Amino acid sequence: MAVLKEIISEERLRLRVEEISHEIAEGMARKDFVMVGVLKGSVVFLADLMRALHRRGLCPTVDFITISSYGDSTESSSAGKIISGLHHDVEGKVVLLVDDIADTALTLKQARDHILSMGATRAFTCVLLDKAGRRKVEFEPDFRGFAIENVFVVGYGLDAAHRHRCLPYVARLEDE
Ligand code: PRP
Repeated sequence: MAVLKEIISEERLRLRVEEISHEIAEGMARKDFVMVGVLKGSVVFLADLMRALHRRGLCPTVDFITISSYGDSTESSSAGKIISGLHHDVEGKVVLLVDDIADTALTLKQARDHILSMGATRAFTCVLLDKAGRRKVEFEPDFRGFAIENVFVVGYGLDAAHRHRCLPYVARLEDE
């Protein structure tokens, strides 16, 4: 049976999200950007991050894109599919792409290419978790919460076959 082992507590998440909002406020060099969350894993992080940004005087507009790579499996496939695109025009705008995790980075690279093909002038990327050792494409996020090892993690938006997204902390899923 699989068990959950907490690896990043609610408090560490809260503190790091505040720090990232500071890094974004300093690093984006402009206030009027569009935050684009990659559904569905980004929702919890994005919701906390947008409120942290508000505390720093930033109130970006928000949009979402859906790209699925894993389906119900724990392994990423090579071809992510854009299931639904943006609802707003990003032509001439600066975008901050937000996701819960960069693993192979196929998803974020595809999302960034898509955003730029829609005419955005710049697409910054922000991930909560970064498994840099797993890359299949070259990719370095502009903003990153935590570097993690190659373990399967759930919670704070991340799922395992649609379960555990609602956990307020990040946990690794281990066999007992
Ligand atoms: C997960 C996660 C990232 C992506 C990262 O999404 O939310 O978007 O995989 O993997 P990669 O770096 O190897 O591309 P998933 O496809 O599982 O969909 P979900 O967000 O709906 O859970």
